Amino acid sequence: MVRERVARERNLGRVVEFGCGTGFYTEVLACNADTVLATDVSSVMLDVAKRRVNARNVTFRVEDCQRTSLPDGAFDTAFMSLVIHFTVPDHAVAEMHRILRPGGTLIVVNLDPQALNGLARIRSLMRVVYQGVVGYRIKPPKRFGRNVVTEAQLAQLLGRSGFRVGSTETVRDSSRSSSIPVEYVRAAKT
Ligand SMILES: C[S@@+](CC[C@H](N)C(=O)[O-])C[C@H]1O[C@@H](n2cnc3c(N)ncnc32)[C@H](O)[C@@H]1O
Repeated sequence: MVRERVARERNLGRVVEFGCGTGFYTEVLACNADTVLATDVSSVMLDVAKRRVNARNVTFRVEDCQRTSLPDGAFDTAFMSLVIHFTVPDHAVAEMHRILRPGGTLIVVNLDPQALNGLARIRSLMRVVYQGVVGYRIKPPKRFGRNVVTEAQLAQLLGRSGFRVGSTETVRDSSRSSSIPVEYVRAAKT
């Protein structure tokens, strides 16, 4: 559903994607961009993305989105999906601000478990724990999840970091009440 939303973007210009992971969004971004620099802190994830993505206007590079080697004001659009909760959010957003040109667009796709209430919230938590144990078979790192930001916290963070939020859309899979909604936030560098 989020990928369909990304596909509706137009004229993204020079794009940098942070935490591209397996490249789930990279090719869709590339269809609507002049160039895409797809980055991730993990070279292993980038290797998977390189095998998946077959677009001539995409290049790949290892970068930590909290402190990149990218020049100031070099990009028209920065995109990050399901990454901010792995970072110190203030640091990541400050870095987005630095590398975007004035008026450039930041698109953040953000998980918001707090948007669920009651039983749906409990069920989603149980599903996350179950998937972690059965699917990934690793213990989550200490204090994992402490940097998850709610919609309101993200809006405040963007505001105090020099962005003006243009729109926030909630993407929700209504077929399962415990699916965690995500926000699709577009903001402009002021
Ligand atoms: C949940 S995956 C999301 C991947 C992709 N954006 C998507 O939505 O399908 C999170 C990705 O963020 C990357 N990541 C985590 N911390 C990062 C950081 N500080 N800088 C850049 N990438 C990071 C991880 O390596 C992983 O590939």
